[in-house]
Amino acid sequence: MGKSFILVAVDGGAASGKSSTSKILSERLKLLYVNTGSHYRSLTWAVLQAGIQPDDDASVSSYLETIPIGTIVEGREARITLESKVLGDEIRSEAVNNAVSIVAAIPEVRQFLLKHQRGYADLAKESGFEGLIMEGRDIGSIIFPDANFRFFMFADEAERARRRELEGQVDSIQKRDQLDKQRKTAPLTCPDGAIKIDTTHLTLEKVAQKMQDIVQSGNNMANEPHKS
Ligand code: C5P
Repeated sequence: MGKSFILVAVDGGAASGKSSTSKILSERLKLLYVNTGSHYRSLTWAVLQAGIQPDDDASVSSYLETIPIGTIVEGREARITLESKVLGDEIRSEAVNNAVSIVAAIPEVRQFLLKHQRGYADLAKESGFEGLIMEGRDIGSIIFPDANFRFFMFADEAERARRRELEGQVDSIQKRDQLDKQRKTAPLTCPDGAIKIDTTHLTLEKVAQKMQDIVQSGNNMANEPHKS
């Protein structure tokens, strides 16, 4: 019998170490990797380009219906496309950093992306991957609550700010986290039963190894509840 398909959900605040470690794990375990922050960022960029205010829920929602979105697999990563194009560095601009959490709080935006994001499990199977690793804020709580493994990452504020600075990014991570935690629909939270990893003092390699050991041992038991 072939190996069974594994679904790995990774959540956490900005710069908590989700993307880099999820990418490493996708390589090692032959999983399709999906960064859902880039979905919200791409839509936010399109909204700003269209001259729509990010807090104008009605205009953002009706504009969304006009944007054709799709997916493209590049190596081990699946990316969202807008009008058949993958967006680049523009989605990491200061303007997008400042607006993304406002757009991501709109329930219709989340509903729109929920359907899209759940579709990546079939895409991973059809494309011959051994599983899917998806990272974001609500993957283990809303998108794939039945994932085989659900991780929740966190790190000290100062360390997270240092990481962004090293990347040369102007990013108010504290403000984004606050908005992401406070929104009514699918807030950033440590899902019940998720495995928590404090990445403050760990290298990316150490975190990835820890996740790999857990997945390979099949021990998906959660540790103590996260307090934040
Ligand atoms: O992961 P990243 O920091 O690029 O995410 C950008 C923003 O997208 C987050 O601050 C959050 O507002 C939104 N987001 C979300 N749900 C996800 C992923 C990202 O609300 N699953």
